[in-house]
This record gives sequence, C-alpha cells and structure tokens, in this order.
Amino acid sequence: MKALTVIPLKEGSAALIDMDDPPEADGDVLVETLGVGVCGTDIEILSGQYGWAPPGEERLVLGHESLGRVVDAPAGSGFVPGDHVVGIVRMPDPLPCSSCAVGEWDMCRNGKYTEHGIKELHGFCRERYRIPSAHLVKVDPALGMLGVLLEPATILAKAWDHVEHIGRRAHWDPARAIVTGAGPVGLMAALMGVQRGMEVHVIDQVSDGPKPALVSDVGAHYHTGSIEDACPSPDVVIECTGVGSLVFDAMEHVAAGGVVCLTGVSSGGRTIGVDAGELNRYMVLENEAVVGSVNANKGHYEAGAAALAAADREWLGRLITRRVPLDSWQDALARQAGDVKVVIEVGTA
Ligand code: BGC
Repeated sequence: MKALTVIPLKEGSAALIDMDDPPEADGDVLVETLGVGVCGTDIEILSGQYGWAPPGEERLVLGHESLGRVVDAPAGSGFVPGDHVVGIVRMPDPLPCSSCAVGEWDMCRNGKYTEHGIKELHGFCRERYRIPSAHLVKVDPALGMLGVLLEPATILAKAWDHVEHIGRRAHWDPARAIVTGAGPVGLMAALMGVQRGMEVHVIDQVSDGPKPALVSDVGAHYHTGSIEDACPSPDVVIECTGVGSLVFDAMEHVAAGGVVCLTGVSSGGRTIGVDAGELNRYMVLENEAVVGSVNANKGHYEAGAAALAAADREWLGRLITRRVPLDSWQDALARQAGDVKVVIEVGTA
C-alpha cells in the first residue's frame, strides 16, 4: 500500500513509498484512510525540526489528523465495517505514568508517550492502518470529509476545558476572549468561544484571503493590530501562534483573574526583552494564570465531536481550502496563499 513518509530530522526526505499492510499486532480494527489534514506540526517534521521514527525504522509515516472508514473490526469492539472513524493521536506511555494510567495520556508525566505520525508510531497518511479499538472514535458520517477536522478540534476542546477548570478556582464569569492566530487552530478556538456565549476577538496578520470572513461568519471579531487594541482586558486568551512577543502581550493584557492558555509550540531561538519582575507583579496582584496545553484525551475527542456537530456545516466546509489527491502530495505540502486547512485525499469519503 502507498504511504507518505519522511526520515525524521532530515529536511527534504518526504517520499510516497510502497509499504506492507499493517500487521495485526498494531490493533484489532482495520481502517482504510479517507483523508489526512496537514498542520504546522507536519510542516515542522517535513523541515527536519521534529519527529521520531518507530524504533528500528528509518522512516515515519506522516499524518495525525485523519478520517477513515472501518474495514474490519471484531464483534464486541464497538465498531462495524463502514463506520467513519478518527484515530486518537497519542498512545499512553508503556509504564504507564499516573496520568496515562487513568486515560489522561495528554498529560503524560514522563514523556514516554508515543504519537501517530509524530513520535515513534506510524501516522495515518497510508491507505490502511490498524489500531486498538480503545484508541479509535466514531464520527458522524454525515460530516463526510469534514470529519478530518476532529483532531484539531480536540486540541481546542482540551484548551477550553482546562481554561474553565482553572477559571472555576474562584467566582468565574468570563465575557471576552482573545484568540491569537486565525489558522485552523485559532478558528476552532474562536468557534468554541462563541459556542460558550463569549465575545471573541481574533488577531492575525493578514487582511485578505479567507480568514477575516471566516472569523466574522463564526460570530467573532477580526483584528490585525495588537491585543491591547483588539480587546483590552480579555478574561481568556487562547494563544495559537507560539510567537514569543504575543505570549508576553497576552500575559500583560489579560484581565484580573484571567487565564492565558498557550497552545502554539514555538521553534525557539528568538530572544525578546521581558521585565520579569513587572510581569510577576501583574500576575500575582491580579491572580492571573498561564497554562500550556497540548494533545487531547478521549473526553476531549467527545467534546470536539460535539463542537463540530453544533457548528454550521457550510462554515466548517470553508475551513478546508484545498483537497489534494495522495499522488499529488507535494502540492498539498507546499503552502499557498489563502490556505487554511489542506487535506490529502487518500480515499473517497
Ligand atoms: C498534535 C498533537 C500533538 C502535538 C505535539 C500537534 O500538532 O495535534 O496531538 O500532541 O502536535 O506533538
């Protein structure tokens, strides 16, 4: 079968190769892949900055945002052939740590977790894969290819869940949120903020292309300026860019008692000046919280699916700005102006 692979940490090594069908040892459910979303993490892996091949192998199959269809599943697994499914990205560490042991692999404490298409486990950008039924979730087949948006939705479902948990440490009545970045992650963050009844402001750099209308059509406000100009004193900031200066702006401008949630993984190597003492003073005197958030557990997949089900289908459809067949994978991986989410079509949804 065909698989889109890369040699981790080697730029320019991506190749569509022929590989053996997945062994039964990989899991009880056999899935045919319909589509795979391309995200910033994939671009980092392709540029040789991130990623790990499975032990003993040179190549890693790419793809962690997926939609598939069950081909074969044992009785009692909860799945039947034809079900539309999404594979959970992270597998718990084998020890397991106390978080992985209770199904909170997104909070893995020893770093020994594995991730499909990212860390030591082949991804979903291949014609077929096997996976344990416990790590597969169903999606509404009526969503068609839009089901591929579930994985990015889970990242924000977790971020909002944790923001709310932290907010409830005391009286919590948030009204306004800022989202930095209007890519797929930022747009999902905005969708979920609006779904919570909040006034949501999204900041991005571009003033053309599909992003401004996507933001206003979801019911949020689009800005190209600073956090301070867009919405002074937001109760919540969901930072989706990983840009250092925005991270510190968010900490500086969040309202008293507010929560800043960081979801963007920075590449590092850029130094900015920060008055750490002043920042400390704000944060202490205003009870501010800053939290990092990565990955998602099964509960977040359920919350992400609920958010997609409640969203306007036409709006969700506009997030997928290009669909590219697997054989033209180079086109999918080369960024184009106006891209929001690019999907590699591996099968037909
Ligand atoms: C994925 C997460 C993953 C993270 C770090 C993100 O792109 O969506 O599932 O945990 O990268 O590897």
